[in-house]
Amino acid sequence: MAQVYNWQLGRQMDYRFPEAHPDRQFAAVFNINRCIACQTCTMACKSTWTFSEGQEHMWWNNVETKPYGGYPHHWDVKLLQMMNRYAPGQSWDVAQADEKKAPYGVFDGQTIFEVASNNNLPGVAIGYIPPDDEWTAPNIFEDTPRSRGADPAPAQLPEHKTWFFYLQRICNHCTYPACLAACPRNAVYKRPEDGIVLIDQERCRGYRKCEEACPYKKAIYRPSTRTTEKCIACYPRVEGSDPLTNGVPMETRCMSACVGKIRLQGLVEVNADGTWKEDPTNPLYYLIREEQVALPLYPQFGTEPNVYYIPPRWVPRDYLHQMFGPGVDDALARYEAPSRRLMAVLQLFRASQTIIFNFEVKEGPKIRDVNLNGKTWSIYDDTVVGYDKNGKEAVRVSVQQPFFERPAQYLNSI
Ligand code: SF4
Ligand code: SF4
Ligand code: SF4
Ligand code: F3S
Repeated sequence: MAQVYNWQLGRQMDYRFPEAHPDRQFAAVFNINRCIACQTCTMACKSTWTFSEGQEHMWWNNVETKPYGGYPHHWDVKLLQMMNRYAPGQSWDVAQADEKKAPYGVFDGQTIFEVASNNNLPGVAIGYIPPDDEWTAPNIFEDTPRSRGADPAPAQLPEHKTWFFYLQRICNHCTYPACLAACPRNAVYKRPEDGIVLIDQERCRGYRKCEEACPYKKAIYRPSTRTTEKCIACYPRVEGSDPLTNGVPMETRCMSACVGKIRLQGLVEVNADGTWKEDPTNPLYYLIREEQVALPLYPQFGTEPNVYYIPPRWVPRDYLHQMFGPGVDDALARYEAPSRRLMAVLQLFRASQTIIFNFEVKEGPKIRDVNLNGKTWSIYDDTVVGYDKNGKEAVRVSVQQPFFERPAQYLNSI
């Protein structure tokens, strides 16, 4: 095993291959607070990529209801229980937090790779292959809340006595993919231009080690071809080679179809050592590294996932800490009373299909003062302008949405 630096863990960790990083990394932010579980994203992916024979059970994008739901069933609970058997009491040292190298502190526990190597388990990572009947539904236990009646883990907001939330899931195009490390055929690769992780269907022989090792269970076996397939990050759109995009990088199908406007996807620039190049006008960099309002899913697994989540406000914090790490409290404090700049950048979600590489905020007048938890918080009608890869304006949207009244002569009289 080589030693690689995982900035989400704030430390070096074991990995099968030495460090090698792409120039840019595919990344996305999902705002859980806004998702309505309409599954439009799920169907956008299904109707584009997985409508063929042998793919019936495949949902490269799915939205599941937490805490009970999961696709495949209980994927995260199962893995957490397995890890807990070998490495109980995993914790973080938040005192060692460092803005650049360890924004969430230092992870004191063991990753999926380290649990395997420290305990002489077979394979590069601890994992399992879900049986067929666990791949049945993209949102099983839909809308099933936690704790009716006496609540041992009360929700955070007084109006919510019970809680559930929707978790949107695609492949994380991890920096240190477990699927890639596990494949004995080296059929899985990470593209140097955008960090997208793909399975070479010519090389794959269906060993399913990728499926076993992926902690997020996003590599899925296809019996009709005896190969494994996964989310391909709609790479023709991201690289601008889809005829629709006119050569300009465009967001993926599941992102651009999102009805709830919860998704923002793009590319961040990466240094040779794997750290992110400082780029405060890139909306992804801004949200994830500067405001730190969006967090990785189960960072303790150690794959350095590249999909980030704004956590749900109403859910018990201990649950969120396990799922998103120790950055949850700060992230929610920033989301609940957003800075002027954050408020503007949040308007970029689903404002355009074009990938926004940079943004600027043009200041507008104050709209009003609001009393929030005993403090005065001001809202401004600022305008955020997003620019595409070539520096051309792609979108312009204001905090206060314009109000249009339909003139009387156009009223629908039917
Ligand atoms: Fe591989 Fe799973 Fe990471 Fe996707 S989420 S890159 S399938 S380890
Ligand atoms: Fe499907 Fe593309 Fe979304 Fe991946 S990025 S889940 S391939 S729509
Ligand atoms: Fe949630 Fe958007 Fe998907 Fe609807 S389309 S389920 S709002 S992520
Ligand atoms: Fe390798 Fe997975 Fe195929 S382990 S051979 S990519 S099924």
